Amino acid sequence: MESRIFSGIRPSGKLHLGNYLGAIKNWIELQDKPNTERAIFAVVDYHGITTPFNPKTYRQQVMDTILDFLAAGIDPKKSLLIRQSKIPEHTELAWIFNTITPVSWLDRLPTYREKLGETDGKYNHVGLLDYPVLMAADILLYKSNLVPVGEDQLPHMDLTNEIAKKFNSMFGQTFEPVKPHLAIGARIMSLQDPAKKMSKTPSASSGQAGDEYIALSDSPDEIRDKIKKAVTDSGNEIVFDPAKKPAISNLMTIYHLLSQNSVNEIEKKYGGKNYSEFKSDLAEVVVNFLNPFQEKRRELKNDLTYVEDVLMESEEKAKIIASSTLTEVKQKMGL
Ligand code: AMP
Ligand code: TRP
Repeated sequence: MESRIFSGIRPSGKLHLGNYLGAIKNWIELQDKPNTERAIFAVVDYHGITTPFNPKTYRQQVMDTILDFLAAGIDPKKSLLIRQSKIPEHTELAWIFNTITPVSWLDRLPTYREKLGETDGKYNHVGLLDYPVLMAADILLYKSNLVPVGEDQLPHMDLTNEIAKKFNSMFGQTFEPVKPHLAIGARIMSLQDPAKKMSKTPSASSGQAGDEYIALSDSPDEIRDKIKKAVTDSGNEIVFDPAKKPAISNLMTIYHLLSQNSVNEIEKKYGGKNYSEFKSDLAEVVVNFLNPFQEKRRELKNDLTYVEDVLMESEEKAKIIASSTLTEVKQKMGL
């Protein structure tokens, strides 16, 4: 079957290794597959404003995310790279979906509960609750059938399919089922707390903000420093055991995914060695891996007209698909 791929990422700061290994790496592999009919990748800036953001720097954050994508290997010849807010059909379709989505499908979602907890309920606005409906609209607007995401997004994928089914049953067959595409090692944990996923939002329990994640654009010294400070488990052995040794297992996963060494090979290589030897090697693995990415990113930053052109062209093409779906939807609904 031909795949029509869609995925999105919030511009909530610099992209980190979790985003890369859980999402973008997958996107790049998918865009290159021969049976990929189209691939659309979006910076979901409307999703990004559901949690605290700074209007003065937000535009820059969106551009930073776009630069991260292009530097990581999203190829504008094969994929469309878009900003969600530039294509109003996303929110238009989300409104329509709002009218067929029971509140009870949304307020039980773990992602919503988590976000409420993180902000002490301060951000309990309709947009936060409605976040997954906009996501369903993002996906279905382009009649996508394959969505590369991390496993935390699976409840949103189920919801997307529920909404599609309900729309079809109320207004006639319009949307096909959508499948998630999970990456291996899809969940990279925080360097400061292996019970939490690596994230740009600092947790209350940790020390300095930023120590929890490695941004793709961190300098070699920042990377070395963060890995040195990463928490480890009791004992001193380099063994992969996510249940008993979650911290070192997480670091080993990163090592494995960036170096092509299997976890077994890593265990053998570091048999008898201590955490600090392992950590200093891991830092070099990360630094070397990120080097070509960072070079490409610097080049792009010096050629912003090219980047703007890529965006304009992609958004124009995406709009054609989006408005065709919306016309069909409105027609079926008598709008
Ligand atoms: P976010 O930064 O939360 O907007 O996430 C963007 C994408 O990266 C989603 O597909 C997430 O599932 C994925 N992602 C975010 N954090 C991690 C992580 N720590 N490990 C793996 N994937 C992640
Ligand atoms: N909700 C996703 C996240 O937090 C981001 C997102 C928005 C998305 N729209 C999407 C992902 C559509 C895949 C498809 O990571």
